[in-house]
Amino acid sequence: MNVCIIGAGYVGLTTAAVLAKLGHTVHCVDENEQKIAALKRGDVPIYEPGLAELFTDHQSRLFFHHKQIHVEADVIFICVGTPADSKGKPDVSYVNRAIADLTPHINEKQTLVIKSTVPIGTNERIYNHFKNEGKHIHVVSNPEFLREGSAIFDSLYPDRIVIGLREDDDRSLSIMQALYAGIHAPYIVTSLSGAEMIKYAANAFLATKISFINEMARLCEAYGVDVVDVAKGIGLDGRIGPHFLQAGIGYGGSCFPKDVTALQQMAYEQNVRPYMLEATKTINDTQLNWYVQKIKRTLGHMSKKRIAVLGIAFKPNTDDIRESPAVSLIKKLHAHGANVIAHDPKAVLHNVDVKQANTLEEAIAQADALIVATDWDEYKQLNWAYVKQMMSGNVVIDGRNCLPREAIMNAGLNYVGVGRG
Ligand code: NAD
Ligand code: UGA
Repeated sequence: MNVCIIGAGYVGLTTAAVLAKLGHTVHCVDENEQKIAALKRGDVPIYEPGLAELFTDHQSRLFFHHKQIHVEADVIFICVGTPADSKGKPDVSYVNRAIADLTPHINEKQTLVIKSTVPIGTNERIYNHFKNEGKHIHVVSNPEFLREGSAIFDSLYPDRIVIGLREDDDRSLSIMQALYAGIHAPYIVTSLSGAEMIKYAANAFLATKISFINEMARLCEAYGVDVVDVAKGIGLDGRIGPHFLQAGIGYGGSCFPKDVTALQQMAYEQNVRPYMLEATKTINDTQLNWYVQKIKRTLGHMSKKRIAVLGIAFKPNTDDIRESPAVSLIKKLHAHGANVIAHDPKAVLHNVDVKQANTLEEAIAQADALIVATDWDEYKQLNWAYVKQMMSGNVVIDGRNCLPREAIMNAGLNYVGVGRG
C-alpha cells in the first residue's frame, strides 16, 4: 500500500520503518524542515536501536517531505505530538493543524488513522469535522503502545493491535489487517472512543504499578526491608506479574506524566474523582524529593562535593530527555551546591549549568559519590574494583535499583539503593 505519515517523531519514524519493512511505500511528512533535511540525507534524527538499519535496508520505499502531504496515499497516519498544555490537558493543536492541512486533499477512498494519543472523543470529532466539510472519511483510532528504546521490537511483535472504528465502518478493519499483514498479534476491535480509552488506561495502569512499588520502597526503607525482594515476591504471582515493579526515582518520559494528568483532567471534566490517578501522580511527583533527602542523609552536606550522575535520558536505550527524572535529579543536586558531572551514552544535557563528561572515566574520576539515574546496561556492567580506584569517595547510589549490590560492596564501596533497607 501507499502510506503517508504525518509527524516524523519517535512514533512516526518507527511506524514508517516497520511499514516499509512490511513492503509498503511510505511518505513521511513533518513540519520541521531540519528534521526532513536530515532524513533526506540519510541521517536519523533520533536514537532508537535498529531504526537507522531499517531505514537503510528499505530506503527505496521511504520518502521524506517537508509539510507537503502525499495526497495519493491509501492510508494516512497522524503521528504528531500531543503534549500537555499549561493546565495539564492534552494540547491537540498539532493534531488539529494536521487535520486542517489534510482537509482540502483527503478523499473518501482514503483511510485516516490516528496514532497520536488523543483525548476521548477526538476521533469522533475528527470524523464529524470532515462530515461537516461534506466528506465521509474512514477514521480509525489505532493507538500506539511502543516503548522508546525497544520501539522496533514492540512494533514488530506487539502484544495486541487496537483498532477503534465507527459502528458503520465495515471497510477499515480489513484495510488495517492488510496493512499489518505479517505482524502476528491479537486484534482488539472497539469503538473510536474505546480505543482512545484503552491507550490512556494502559499507560495509567503501568504508571500506577511504578508508583505502587515506589510507595512500597518508602515503606520498606522505614521497616528495613529490601523492596527488590518484595517486587520479586509479588511479581511471581501471575495475577500481579513481574513487570513495572522496579522502584526508583520515579517515572518520566514524554508519555506517562502527560497521559496520567490528561486522564485525570478528563475525569474531572466528567465529574468523576480519579482517586487512583491522583495517588499515582502524587507519589511520582514526590518520589525524587524523597530520594534526594536520602542522598542528603547519606552524604551529609553536598556543597562542593563532586557527584558523578550516570544517566541523563528518561530511560535506557534512548536519547530522549523529555520529563527525565535524571535531569531533575541533576538540577536538584546542582541547586544543593554539589559539583555535578553528568554522563550518558546517548542523551545530551541542555540548558543546565552542569558539565557533561565525554567518557565514563572522566565522570567517575575523583568523584566523592556516584549516582546511577538511568539504568543503562553499561552502568550495570561497570568494573567496581576499577571504579573504587578512580573515585575519591566510596558511595555508590543506585537510583534505579539496577546495580549488582554484592559486587559493589565486595569492591569496598558503600551501596545505597531505593527502599533496600
Ligand atoms: P515527537 O514529538 O517525537 O514527534 C512529533 C513530530 O510531529 C515532530 O517531529 C513534529 O515536528 C511533528 N509535527 C507536529 N505537528 C505537525 C504537523 N501539523 N504537520 C507535520 N508534522 C507535525 O512525538 P512522539 O513521541 O513520536 O509522539 C507522537 C504521539 O504518539 C503522541 O501523541 C504520543 O503521546 C504518542 N505516543 C508516543 C510514544 C513514544 O514512546 N514516544 C509511544 C506511544 C504513543
Ligand atoms: C511507555 C509505555 O511503556 C508504552 O507502552 C507506551 O506506548 C509509551 O509509554 C507511550 O505512550 O509513549 P516509554 O515511556 O517509552 O513507554 O518507557 P517505559 O519503559 O514505559 O518507561 C517509562 C518510565 O518509567 C521511565 O522513566 C522508566 O525509567 C520508568 N520505569 C519503568 C520505572 O521507574 N520502573 C519500572 O519498573 C518501569
